[in-house]
Amino acid sequence: MTTIYPALIHQALATVRYPGNGKSIMENEMLEDDLRIDGMKVSFSLIFPKPTDPFRKSVIKAAEAAIKMYVDKDCEVTINEKSATALPPEPDKLLPNVKNIIAVSSGKGGVGKSTVTANLAVGLAKLGYKVGLLDTDIFGPSMPKMFQVENERPYAEQVDGRDLIVPVEKYGVKLLSIGFFVNPDEATLWRGGMACNALKQLISDAMWGDLDYFILDTPPGTSDIHLTLLQTLAITGAIIVSTPQQVALADARKGINMYMNDKVNVPILGLVENMAWFTPADHPDEKYYIFGKDGAKELAESLNVPLLAQVPLVQGICENGDKGTPSVLDPASPDGMAYMQLAAKVVTQVDKRNVELEATKRVEVTKQ
Ligand SMILES: Nc1ncnc2c1ncn2[C@@H]1O[C@H](COP(=O)(O)OP(=O)(O)O)[C@@H](O)[C@H]1O
Ligand SMILES: [Mg+2]
Repeated sequence: MTTIYPALIHQALATVRYPGNGKSIMENEMLEDDLRIDGMKVSFSLIFPKPTDPFRKSVIKAAEAAIKMYVDKDCEVTINEKSATALPPEPDKLLPNVKNIIAVSSGKGGVGKSTVTANLAVGLAKLGYKVGLLDTDIFGPSMPKMFQVENERPYAEQVDGRDLIVPVEKYGVKLLSIGFFVNPDEATLWRGGMACNALKQLISDAMWGDLDYFILDTPPGTSDIHLTLLQTLAITGAIIVSTPQQVALADARKGINMYMNDKVNVPILGLVENMAWFTPADHPDEKYYIFGKDGAKELAESLNVPLLAQVPLVQGICENGDKGTPSVLDPASPDGMAYMQLAAKVVTQVDKRNVELEATKRVEVTKQ
């Protein structure tokens, strides 16, 4: 009669593969810490990722057979099945049903990045696409106001034993904002790591479901938040918003360099020139170039990236932003029209990018 000890059981179980990912059940750490051996009696639990795991029965049978074969054919094996309650998905499996991830960035704050993002998201939804929008601007989250959902508090739903946050839906867009969870006045007290963890949760622990476009409103400049996004998600492309003003353009270049850096390699889908000119409502044929003329257009040309839109400075944009009714909801208005054209152009550029370039890879973290 064999003397049975844990290592023998471990070796036997290492020969059993979990068909879900092809790794052994030992590599997958599916063996619970409750192995009992009493003479020829062996009992333990196996932890399955889901309560409804389709491979439960076959894996349990295979485990039993492996112990009889490699340890002793007379073993009496009892295997309990358990399911993991909260196994977050591996990074590469995050958002499996999201086709394109677009980051909207600007060098400087106040250039209209969030306004462009909100209108782009609603514009894409109006074109019939499934759109998600994540506001990652921890120190100035503006999406709750721009979508008039400031008082909404997203709730969680249990799916396969995990609590998932349900995004708020407005104007055809699924929306989550770090502003739903953090009071911006207190955000400055957050250590960088806390903000980044909260953000990761909004990505991995939310019910985003099927999306054609997942749009990220990012904080101005380059920050830990950007780094977290680049490490967590394979971003399809970035859109850079700038005014035609020289200081804004200089900062826009820095943002562009961050994405184009050879360790990052996120393609620039194009530039948006915001506040490109001012046209008074009672003089619709006149254009005043308040922040300078064609600055972003020229920057786009010099970098050989598309100019996606020139959005005029319009009082209505500001009012609509404050009211929570994005201008694009009225596509006949001059600003609404500019945003609809932007949405259509983004669709074309993303398609082109996906044909011409390989999928983006997440930025790997190298531990020192
Ligand atoms: N084209 C525009 N015309 C008029 N006001 C605008 C325009 N774009 C943005 N704004 C206003 O400018 C302010 C800053 O815009 P916001 O989108 O919050 O900038 P950012 O996200 O870059 O900080 C807001 O009050 C917004 O309503
Ligand atoms: Mg903003």
